[in-house]
Amino acid sequence: MAPEVSTEALIFACNEDDLTDGENLRLDADGGIAVFRVDGEFFATSDSCSHEKWSLGEEGELEGHEVLCTLHMARFDVRTGAPLCFPAVLALKKYRTVVTDGRVYIAPNED
Ligand code: FES
Repeated sequence: MAPEVSTEALIFACNEDDLTDGENLRLDADGGIAVFRVDGEFFATSDSCSHEKWSLGEEGELEGHEVLCTLHMARFDVRTGAPLCFPAVLALKKYRTVVTDGRVYIAPNED
C-alpha cells in the first residue's frame, strides 16, 4: 500500500489525465506556474519566460524535456528551469510536483 501523501500545503494543478505527453498548461497560482507532462512525468516551472513576459504554459511548445518560448525562441529544460539558449539567460523557478490518486499538485515554496 502506498504511503498517504498530505496535500494540505500543495496547489492542485490538474488531474493526471488532463494532460497527455507533450502537453502543458498554465495555472494562475504563485504569479503563474507552467505544468508540463513528458513521458508520464509532470514538471512545473514559473510560467513567464525569463526573457520577456510570455506564457510558457499557454504558448510554449514542449519538445521532449525542452519548452520553446514561441515569442523569441528561447528554450528551457523543464526538469531544471535552466535556459538552454539565447535570448534567455535567467533560469525559470522550478517547482516540485506530487502525483497522488490521479491528481497532480505543485509544492509552492520550494526551489
Ligand atoms: S519572451 Fe521568451 S524568448 Fe523572448
